[in-house]
Amino acid sequence: MTEVWSDRFEEGLNPVIEAFNASIGFDILLLQEDLDGSIAHAQMLAKCGVITTNEAIKLQEGLEKIRLEAASGLFNPDQKDEDIHFAVERRLITLLGPLGKKLHTGRSRNDQVGCDFRLWLRRQIDILDSDLERLQKALFNQSENHVRTLIPGYTHLQRAQPLSLAHHLLAYIEMIARDRERLLDVRKRVNISPLGAAALAGTSVPIDRQYTASKLGFERIYSNSLDAVSDRDFAVEFVAASALIMAHLSRMAEEVILWASEEFAFIRLTDRCATGSSLMPQKKNPDVPELVRGKTGRVFGNLQALLTMIKGLPLAYNKDFQEDKESVFDTVNTTKNSLVAMSILFEEGIIFLPQNLSSAVDSDYSNATDVADYLVKKGIPFREAYQIVGRLIKDCIAKKILLKDLSLNEWKEIHSSFSEDIFLKLDPEQVVASRTSEGGTAFEKVEDRLKYWRGQLHSRKE
Ligand code: ARG
Repeated sequence: MTEVWSDRFEEGLNPVIEAFNASIGFDILLLQEDLDGSIAHAQMLAKCGVITTNEAIKLQEGLEKIRLEAASGLFNPDQKDEDIHFAVERRLITLLGPLGKKLHTGRSRNDQVGCDFRLWLRRQIDILDSDLERLQKALFNQSENHVRTLIPGYTHLQRAQPLSLAHHLLAYIEMIARDRERLLDVRKRVNISPLGAAALAGTSVPIDRQYTASKLGFERIYSNSLDAVSDRDFAVEFVAASALIMAHLSRMAEEVILWASEEFAFIRLTDRCATGSSLMPQKKNPDVPELVRGKTGRVFGNLQALLTMIKGLPLAYNKDFQEDKESVFDTVNTTKNSLVAMSILFEEGIIFLPQNLSSAVDSDYSNATDVADYLVKKGIPFREAYQIVGRLIKDCIAKKILLKDLSLNEWKEIHSSFSEDIFLKLDPEQVVASRTSEGGTAFEKVEDRLKYWRGQLHSRKE
């Protein structure tokens, strides 16, 4: 008999089934959390008089020894161990003999795996939060340098109105701020202890759930033992929040790809963040944003996998839950890597080309709204002003000229309200400067928001 479970079994597992059943190949990632959770559990058993203080100390020493063994590459569980929980317990029994067999008193792998998984995810959420902040900082630093750089603003990917480039980049900082809020909200529901729910019903062993919860830094405990071992909502919520982060990164990536094209030519990618083609020597490819855009699909897929995995499950633990880990692990991995890559891209991979940007905003009709607004200020109803300018644009397109090419006389022929100051209104800088409504792109408004973000992003110590 090599299995950890009871003597009820007489035969060993079919090796193919054993491999199919095992999660050790991926849940080895939970080793540190499994050790932390087991140490807290042992201390609690001693505190409640279930084992002696001396026994708890020995168990803790054994568990810490496994941590050291792992650090020096000496802890290598295999498929026979089935999962990280059995692997640790088995090693502990080898190290401590019969005492090791006391550790599992008053707990089940069902509450244990829930505990380990939550502890792990909580730590990852904190790392992701600082990765998100890093990206915000990278965007912020670019913004600071580009308050007065203009960029065409688009709707329907058609030139709409010019913007301060900083305003454009700040939009992403706001977007990422929501991502951070969402993750912190998910964290509240990750940070609940299922320990002590045991298999599903609680236990007759006199345990102290609050004690383990506070030792492990959980904010509170599940109030219902069945719910405690059945709940994977936190995993779904986490992957959903990550899916939205990836969607945001993918939108940013798409813009970077467009901007780097010869058609836009708003940015140049530095050699450190772009790749070459194996065949076409002139090419410089935006592989980083393309990969981010591409990897987004994995996280969306993980969300679908998790939702589908839980949808038909009766209470309480079902082995289907073992499938939660790879979806979450891959989500964490993909999201973290994508965030870091995008941060590096904005830190050192993108050079904005102000010359190209300013000639872009100077060679279109994106000041048309301002001409209509000019007439509105002179008392003409907006819809009428809008029609006048519409006809004017049509004429200009036919004559292949821009609004700024019209003479004062021509303006006066269009409408008697036009005078010399219309030329000022047409200037893209002026167009941007005039958008002073709250949240608008006017330079002064952008400066205000930069000030706010400077405080947010640079107040805390690194
Ligand atoms: N490897 C399992 C998982 O990841 C651990 C819990 C197994 N519990 C059980 N009763 N089979 O979900």
